[in-house]
Amino acid sequence: MKPTLNVYALPQYAEPRELAGGTAVVIDVLRATTTIVHALAAGAEEVLPCLEVADAWELAKRFSADEVVLGGERHGVPIDGFQLGNSPEEFVPESVGGKRVIFTTTNGTRAMDRARQADDILIAAFVNASAVARRLFDREHIHILCSGTDGKIGQDDVLLAGLLVERLQRQGGIVYQQNAQAITARETWLHSFALPQALGAEPIEPEQLAAELAKSLGGKNLTSLGLQADILAAAQLDRFDIVPRLDGKTMRIV
Ligand code: MLT
Repeated sequence: MKPTLNVYALPQYAEPRELAGGTAVVIDVLRATTTIVHALAAGAEEVLPCLEVADAWELAKRFSADEVVLGGERHGVPIDGFQLGNSPEEFVPESVGGKRVIFTTTNGTRAMDRARQADDILIAAFVNASAVARRLFDREHIHILCSGTDGKIGQDDVLLAGLLVERLQRQGGIVYQQNAQAITARETWLHSFALPQALGAEPIEPEQLAAELAKSLGGKNLTSLGLQADILAAAQLDRFDIVPRLDGKTMRIV
């Protein structure tokens, strides 16, 4: 089978069975995957994504109270009774160091659930983009799932998908057969910045990337909630060198 590189602008465009045998990359730039990278970089033992708020409470019962932290959002705002919301910078060593983070968000955790049948599932955000790209360089079948926002395509996610496609196409050792969404995502990335920046030859300042992210549906939602700082946090390209992995059977991210 020819190596494949597919982007799905929304999770429902991916057929779960077709992910088996390949590597899935889950993206929710604003904010779930950015926050997960922050949590693990801050020393969380693991992140346990849950689809529903009730599932999160149920899972929390299996652990002692000092072992776990509950985090996430509904409609962008923190969930009643949870210690943390979904702002990346809440996830620091003082709040999550050595803890299990039980986490539920509106869109991101759904995309993770959709990816469960893949052999390997990576969590990607701009804050760990280059580390993810390097991890993908030798993979033959790659499926990049964008979470979107409330069932609509999110330009924030498509931009990161485009960056990954661009890096893989130019620096990876494999020639891929790409789907139309992969080609479109790469073009979107290339047209959003000056060419030397899009190709990684010149830096992209966080403020410049944040301005692009702010135009997305998720960005507009966060701005309306006064959470512009979260957009800037999500725009710190390559701040971290870690690649969280989701185990599709146990639904643990480490
Ligand atoms: C999500 O997973 O739905 C997002 O992270 C939404 C948000 O951050 O508000």
